[in-house]
Amino acid sequence: MKIDTFPILPKTKKPIVIIGAGGIVKDAHLPAYKRAGFEVKALYDLEVEKAERLAGDYGIGTVCQSLDALIELAKTNDCVYDVALPASAIIPVIDQIPDGSGVLIQKPMGNDLGQAAIILDLCRKKQLVAGVNFQLRHAPYIKAAKKIIDDGVIGELHDIDVRMNVYTPWHLWDFLYELPRVEIQYHSIHYIDMIRYFFGNPESVLAKTTKHPNAKALSSARSSIIMDYGDLIRANINTNHGHNFGPKHQESYFKFEGTEGAIKVRVGVYLDYPKGLPDKFEFISLNVSDDWQQIDLEGTWFPDAFIGPMSGLMCKMEDPAFEFINSVEDAIHTMEVVEKCYRSGEHEI
Ligand SMILES: NC(=O)c1ccc[n+]([C@@H]2O[C@H](COP(=O)([O-])OP(=O)(O)OC[C@H]3O[C@@H](n4cnc5c(N)ncnc54)[C@H](O)[C@@H]3O)[C@@H](O)[C@H]2O)c1
Repeated sequence: MKIDTFPILPKTKKPIVIIGAGGIVKDAHLPAYKRAGFEVKALYDLEVEKAERLAGDYGIGTVCQSLDALIELAKTNDCVYDVALPASAIIPVIDQIPDGSGVLIQKPMGNDLGQAAIILDLCRKKQLVAGVNFQLRHAPYIKAAKKIIDDGVIGELHDIDVRMNVYTPWHLWDFLYELPRVEIQYHSIHYIDMIRYFFGNPESVLAKTTKHPNAKALSSARSSIIMDYGDLIRANINTNHGHNFGPKHQESYFKFEGTEGAIKVRVGVYLDYPKGLPDKFEFISLNVSDDWQQIDLEGTWFPDAFIGPMSGLMCKMEDPAFEFINSVEDAIHTMEVVEKCYRSGEHEI
């Protein structure tokens, strides 16, 4: 069995300008855009030298010295904006982007639901075609799972389980140490958004996020989240980023169960981090066979999934009827669930 998971590309690819030249742009945005054949016209970062180094590595012709200069260049060349900044920097930057532009914003959509609402309001007022880069929905294994489920191969989906028992070297991301919200806001948010992609918005949420003794300076490094979809559907996320006992008993998987089959995805990127292990995509369909089958998929979450949100943004600009699954209008609901998770954890029963 072969499943094509490459995203739909726009008829005409628009050039891109990127605001922020940090780790995620280097490791994921630029490699993905290269694979998709998207042209990056210019970069801007408060740290100009950083942007210059990255532009050199990727043959990007222009590094702008100011946001105004980048906006002028974007206007002249009919570019879309890729905003890859710390959450706290998003609002003032979006405010300056010209009305009617296309904008992709890195997740999270602000530091909390209050900021997400301001971002949504700004996007509406400025009539931006805007999305949030919740790219896990476009990871090849999620696209393959969606196709198998939509085709009815595993019957009716009623269970999603996300399990991460891994070791994450948080010290690689300095900025996290100052934040009041870490694990759900920066990591489990991907799984919440992915589960919403399959089941829609939950009726309610039960959650608890906790520190880890090895990372007490972080506000949290482990979470247990139950997304409540009523009596017949179960959707659980369970993460522990402090399993520093070698790869032997690390776990990193998504499991989907239907009435007639199941899918298990090994998410390789987080195993033996940063080396990673290969992904593995397996499914069973009792209508077809009692055996599990493995499918080899092309590409993985980082960087391949980063093509989809940008491509979707360009397709949406080309055709307003295009179903843009990463729109700000949808992303706000993921931020609502995140907010509910934190509120749930504060309640004492
Ligand atoms: N899977 C994912 O989707 C994923 C993964 C990692 C990071 N991220 C998100 O991407 C964002 C950036 O993360 P990162 O790891 O690249 O961080 P980073 O610290 O490596 O880079 C951020 C860059 O933004 C620049 N910057 C800050 N404020 C600016 C401003 N007002 N104007 C211009 N430049 C400014 C900084 O100088 C820095 O170079 C974060 O919000 C993070 O949550 C997403």
